[in-house]
Amino acid sequence: MSATDPRLHRPQRIAILPGDGIGRDVTAEALKVLEAAAERWSLPLELVHFPYSADHYLETGISLPPGQMEEFRDRFAAIFIGAYGDPRIPDMRHAADILLGIRFQLDLYVNFRPCKLYDARLCPLAGKSEKDVDFVVFRENTEGAYVGIGGNFKKGTPDEVAVQEEIHTRKGVERIVRAAFEWAQAHGRGKVLMADKSNVMRYGHDLWQRVFFEVAGEYGGIAASHMYVDALCMQMVKAPEQFEVIVTNNMFGDIVTDLGAALQGGLGVAGSANVHPGRVSMFEPVHGSAPKYAGTGRANPMGAVLSTALMLDELGHGEAASAVEAAVAMAIRAGETTRDLGGSLSTSEVGDRLARAVAAGAAAGR
Ligand SMILES: NC(=O)c1ccc[n+]([C@@H]2O[C@H](COP(=O)([O-])OP(=O)(O)OC[C@H]3O[C@@H](n4cnc5c(N)ncnc54)[C@H](O)[C@@H]3O)[C@@H](O)[C@H]2O)c1
Repeated sequence: MSATDPRLHRPQRIAILPGDGIGRDVTAEALKVLEAAAERWSLPLELVHFPYSADHYLETGISLPPGQMEEFRDRFAAIFIGAYGDPRIPDMRHAADILLGIRFQLDLYVNFRPCKLYDARLCPLAGKSEKDVDFVVFRENTEGAYVGIGGNFKKGTPDEVAVQEEIHTRKGVERIVRAAFEWAQAHGRGKVLMADKSNVMRYGHDLWQRVFFEVAGEYGGIAASHMYVDALCMQMVKAPEQFEVIVTNNMFGDIVTDLGAALQGGLGVAGSANVHPGRVSMFEPVHGSAPKYAGTGRANPMGAVLSTALMLDELGHGEAASAVEAAVAMAIRAGETTRDLGGSLSTSEVGDRLARAVAAGAAAGR
């Protein structure tokens, strides 16, 4: 950690943005578990709640007030987000300002998404066990098709033209590829695979090809390979056990991690981290705001809880992080889950049980 690393500040301040829909439901449960971990391990965490959401935007016209991003950057160790998206705001203005704003303006270039099967019964693939689905995806998080460059010509007429650009920079590609190799090296993983569509995207994805194999040359002990993204999707279903670390661009990472989430039991159980090493980072479940489930007690909080485990780890609290993850794994194996995973518990019942398990320390040292 560098001297300016906001994670070194004590207490470590965490900005909490539950957002919209089930984002609020799952955040409430994730915080129960986080608070139990903070208590159990005497962690120096200070949770600061922010109201930014669709409701707040509709009431005030403000998605994030001026200066808020700078406050996150300078005064917080981490940001935790539930989910954003509300049918009353069809252009997703507030979600773009908050979610993409945080990712882009804080330059959180690593979107880290583990894909791990905690119980073979949850895998939709026949004959696959826990050891067959255990890989991580490094999704580039600040470039690609998500930069919003483009426009319309003759909009609304039969002659309409729409142009949407994606950008890839050498710096942007190199740093996410390097992050994937560094993680593989630090975690004893022997393979990194890069997925693109360089047979069609002859310029942008050709840059990925060249940079990936160039960087791979610096990591002699790690096998580097490539698949076109369509082949990757097929192979993730046919033989997911071949993957350890996957690195890919922003849009392909978005898509393949939903497929990955399905392999581990569904969107409700997938967590993620948005990281710029040495700076404030943001943590969120992979799923969206699922408005139809909001307030019904059906939302699975485990993806949010696993995101707090990633946050604890990033903040230097590895033991607490392992205990939170272990509590989730044990609850899944015991069938103490919401309906999406075959159980019969409500969102808050799952949160209560996970918090109790973490508080008791029963899950530690898994
Ligand atoms: N990071 C984010 O905040 C994010 C991500 C994706 C979508 N969105 C937004 O969320 C809104 C809804 O999008 P969507 O319906 O395409 O995706 P979604 O992830 O919200 O939900 C898709 C389906 O997945 C299941 N699901 C998702 N999370 C679950 C959970 N925790 N527990 C149980 N089941 C769960 C539900 O069946 C749900 O209908 C949209 O406005 C979209 O833009 C936000």
